[in-house]
Amino acid sequence: MESSYSPKLLISFIVILISINPSSHQSLPPLNPRLTKAYIALQAWKQTFTSDPKNTTLNWYGPNVCNYTGIICAPSLDDPYINTVAGIDINHANIAGSLPEELGLLTDIALFHINSNRFYGSLPNSFNHLHLLHELDISNNQFSGTFPEVVLCIPSLKYLDIRYNNFQGNVPKGLFDLKLDALFINNNKFKFSLPENFGKMPASVVVFANNDIQGCIPSSVANMKDTINEIIMTNSRMKGCLPNDIGKLDKVTVFDVSFNEFVGELPESISGMKSLEQLNVAHNKFSGVIPESICRLPRLKNLTYSYNYLSGESEICVKLDDKDDTKNCIPHMHFQRSSHGCDAFYEHPVHCTGVGCSFVTLPPPPPSCPPPPPPAAYHHYL
Ligand SMILES: *[C@@H]1O[C@H](CO)[C@@H](O)[C@H](O)[C@H]1NC(C)=O
Ligand SMILES: *[C@@H]1O[C@H](CO)[C@@H](O)[C@H](O)[C@H]1NC(C)=O
Ligand SMILES: *[C@@H]1O[C@H](CO)[C@@H](O)[C@H](O)[C@H]1NC(C)=O
Repeated sequence: MESSYSPKLLISFIVILISINPSSHQSLPPLNPRLTKAYIALQAWKQTFTSDPKNTTLNWYGPNVCNYTGIICAPSLDDPYINTVAGIDINHANIAGSLPEELGLLTDIALFHINSNRFYGSLPNSFNHLHLLHELDISNNQFSGTFPEVVLCIPSLKYLDIRYNNFQGNVPKGLFDLKLDALFINNNKFKFSLPENFGKMPASVVVFANNDIQGCIPSSVANMKDTINEIIMTNSRMKGCLPNDIGKLDKVTVFDVSFNEFVGELPESISGMKSLEQLNVAHNKFSGVIPESICRLPRLKNLTYSYNYLSGESEICVKLDDKDDTKNCIPHMHFQRSSHGCDAFYEHPVHCTGVGCSFVTLPPPPPSCPPPPPPAAYHHYL
């Protein structure tokens, strides 16, 4: 019948006993089993540190983990009488070390913020025990290896920031099934294509920049319509046409797909992105005339379409304040590409089919001077 005793009740009882006996305060062992586990985890972690140049963890000794720098304690969600380690925030400490399996003992943490340190290796598999973890920020460290798949087993995760590390290889499809609000995987060495379930995530921000993304933006991006505010996919070797469905993203304020290999016309549907403030499509291979309706977007503050092969823009676009249209093929405008470069490009123009992000290569246009008409034999009248 022992099992009918709830350990939680027992712990609460101990905590109450302790709190009604103030004289025991100084010589206390760790206050409860969860803080004891946290103590084990943090000491195991500290063992891995090979450098702590700012002495951030100098006070990480003794059982009172709630007093350690960067450790945030709060009452447990399931029992307000139990104090627990609810978060870790040692951002910008520049500590060198790794993440041991023991960190999986920190089962009450909601935040794990270790950005701007020198941690290496990967996330331990024991992170799958962190069932309350909401925010995981390991950005700007030296993590490497393949995508840390253990994050797919953290059901409460809302904020995932692994940018500025050395992760490489595929990004698993399952990532986009998580209910993330923000996803930052930029500045790694990931090599992947965006899967069809990409739009499933209810994210407000996705940043993929500076990776190797083979392929285009799937039309399913439109499924993020109700949540998405910022999409940043610069410098990721993306290809194909922009899908017409991006026009449905009417809450997006920042859309940046610069420094890729996108082709074809800019979809007229972009004029449906009514909240757009910053649109950057520079350094791609867009061609054709930039739709005037894009330049008329009501909140547009900054439109950058330099370094493409656009062949025309309307007066409205020319008059925008913060606009960069240089290095295109726009007749009579300053700072365009050479006519040689433009002619060579338009030898093989591409045209978006409007289906997903596929395109066709058109036959070369007819030469601009019509060939001389054949001699009209029947005009001989003499
Ligand atoms: C860190 O602590 C060591 C030893 O106590 C001391 O020599 C050093 O100056 C401290 N460094 C900083 C940045 O406080
Ligand atoms: C917590 O740390 C502060 C100073 O950093 C110290 O004054 C206090 O006694 C510590 N509390 C415990 C219970 O160790
Ligand atoms: C507009 O966007 C471009 C590209 O992102 C940036 O370089 C430029 O500084 C921005 N201009 C303003 C005024 O914000």
